[in-house]
Amino acid sequence: MKRTIYDFSGKTLLLTGAAGTIGQAIAHRFYAGGANCVLTDFDLDAVTRFARTLDPDLTRTLPLKHDVTEPTDADRVAGEAVKRFGGIDALVTSAGIYRDALVEEMTDAQWQQTIAVNLDGVFYTCRAAIPHMNDGGAIVNIASIAGHRGSHAHAHYAAAKGGVVVFSRSLAVELAPRIRVNSIAPGLVDGPMVQNLLQLTGDKFIQATPLKRLGTADEIAGAIAFLCSDDASFITAESLHVNGGLYIA
Ligand SMILES: NC(=O)c1ccc[n+]([C@@H]2O[C@H](COP(=O)([O-])OP(=O)(O)OC[C@H]3O[C@@H](n4cnc5c(N)ncnc54)[C@H](O)[C@@H]3O)[C@@H](O)[C@H]2O)c1
Repeated sequence: MKRTIYDFSGKTLLLTGAAGTIGQAIAHRFYAGGANCVLTDFDLDAVTRFARTLDPDLTRTLPLKHDVTEPTDADRVAGEAVKRFGGIDALVTSAGIYRDALVEEMTDAQWQQTIAVNLDGVFYTCRAAIPHMNDGGAIVNIASIAGHRGSHAHAHYAAAKGGVVVFSRSLAVELAPRIRVNSIAPGLVDGPMVQNLLQLTGDKFIQATPLKRLGTADEIAGAIAFLCSDDASFITAESLHVNGGLYIA
């Protein structure tokens, strides 16, 4: 399949969760389009190893440690991005955790950790990046189909992702017309995050998906690159479904 590579030359991407399956695919897309890539993750070793596979001399990539639950980390990372590349044009929040727990059995700590990474982290990162974003910039926050439909045994995750959708819409109104803000709602994407779910439910979700398969990380990255590109210049406050039709099934 031929992929569209958007021209991001001279632009700077700030990406959280960059060592993850979807994060790496996003970094590949932007790097291929010529962007400078500030790649942050909780796991510094993993994100540094990945950055070197993309850009051995780290000329256009800057791997950084970033725990998205820490507001001071967000401020530091935004500052480092500006120091190295002069500003931020695209912000993509991909850091996330997906843990199983029924509400009746969920501990306070499980609830709080899932909200902290998936929702608080998006707020802290956006707040820190906004003052450094160039006019015409774009933010894409990764939500989930769970944030629209809910998800059995993942109420904390679904609540956080639903929060990301409406947070992003609200922010879009605040930042217009200077910066566009959208969220994206992946369905099941092939990677470690959904392996437990697939083992528990077999191919139930694949059968329920009109396109009858899992998505790929690159398909999510392609939609995000589009939303950050000039081709999406009239799109803001949208939540884009990239889930093979599972949303309406
Ligand atoms: N994989 C899917 O099927 C799917 C579906 C819908 C939405 N999503 C969302 O897409 C995003 C990326 O998912 P993925 O499949 O790449 O997952 P992944 O588990 O492969 O990657 C997640 C990354 O987030 C990082 N991370 C975890 N906690 C962090 C923290 N406190 N601070 C900073 N980084 C942290 C991890 O180190 C990891 O590199 C997530 O927000 C996820 O909720 C994924």
